[in-house]
Amino acid sequence: MKDKFTVANFLECKKTGKKITMLTAYDYPTAKIVDEAGIDAILVGDSLGMVVLGYEDTTRVTMDDMVHHAKAVVRGTKRAMVVVDMPFLSYHQGIYESVRNAGRLVSETGCKSVKLEGGEEVIEDVKAIIRAGIPVMGHLGYTPQSVNIFGGHKAQGKTIETAKKIYKDALLLQEAGAFAVVLECVPYKVAEFITGKLDIPTIGIGSGAKCDGQVLVMHDIIGMFRDFTSRHTKRYMDMGSALESSVKSYISDVMEGSFPTEKNSFTVEDEVIEALEKLKL
Ligand code: KIV
Repeated sequence: MKDKFTVANFLECKKTGKKITMLTAYDYPTAKIVDEAGIDAILVGDSLGMVVLGYEDTTRVTMDDMVHHAKAVVRGTKRAMVVVDMPFLSYHQGIYESVRNAGRLVSETGCKSVKLEGGEEVIEDVKAIIRAGIPVMGHLGYTPQSVNIFGGHKAQGKTIETAKKIYKDALLLQEAGAFAVVLECVPYKVAEFITGKLDIPTIGIGSGAKCDGQVLVMHDIIGMFRDFTSRHTKRYMDMGSALESSVKSYISDVMEGSFPTEKNSFTVEDEVIEALEKLKL
């Protein structure tokens, strides 16, 4: 196994220009495959709420959901850095609660860092979590936990005012000690500008190729989430269709009697059957 990917590697990549790769995972087998394929970081994203738990958005995801799934991902990961999302309202109810929840994610799951959404509004929480020894990844631009404020999944930073806010928030996060910042659905020229101004890496999703790294949602790239397709993603396989056709084949095999065969079954000596037949029950 190669050396573990750490916070130090994120910063080293920023210096050398080597791109950082990140994908989400929510369970043990997926984490194991993604890790063995050589990804740098695995995000246990609260996109879990939509792509695994079937909620409309991420606001229904709880701390217990995140702990449950992050534990499985950490068990499947040897090299990649595991980052776990702090869910909705887990860092908005006072600094004490924020540190307690971030600490819970690290101590109960074994993950190495947490991610939270927002800039200025949560900066004291970010500082306190880092003071407690927990690395923080920021998340700016379209921040899914604020979907009801944005009124839907919309690119952010298209106006002078909103672009300025994202830039200022990125600087604040850097000053607070965040080791990286996700830029989600930010116009690519704004993302490129911010990337050029920061000493910490930007990880883009829907924010163009000039970010220092990229992250995507696993269920989007393998075609397992079919409710809608985001413009910013890329589908590398159609696992949803493969799964559906496997299930159809299984149903017809069972209906036709072509499964199970003797090969899939266990044998027994004839005398056992003869003894059963002699039983008078
Ligand atoms: O929850 C998630 O998957 C995320 C990514 C979209 C960055 O936060």
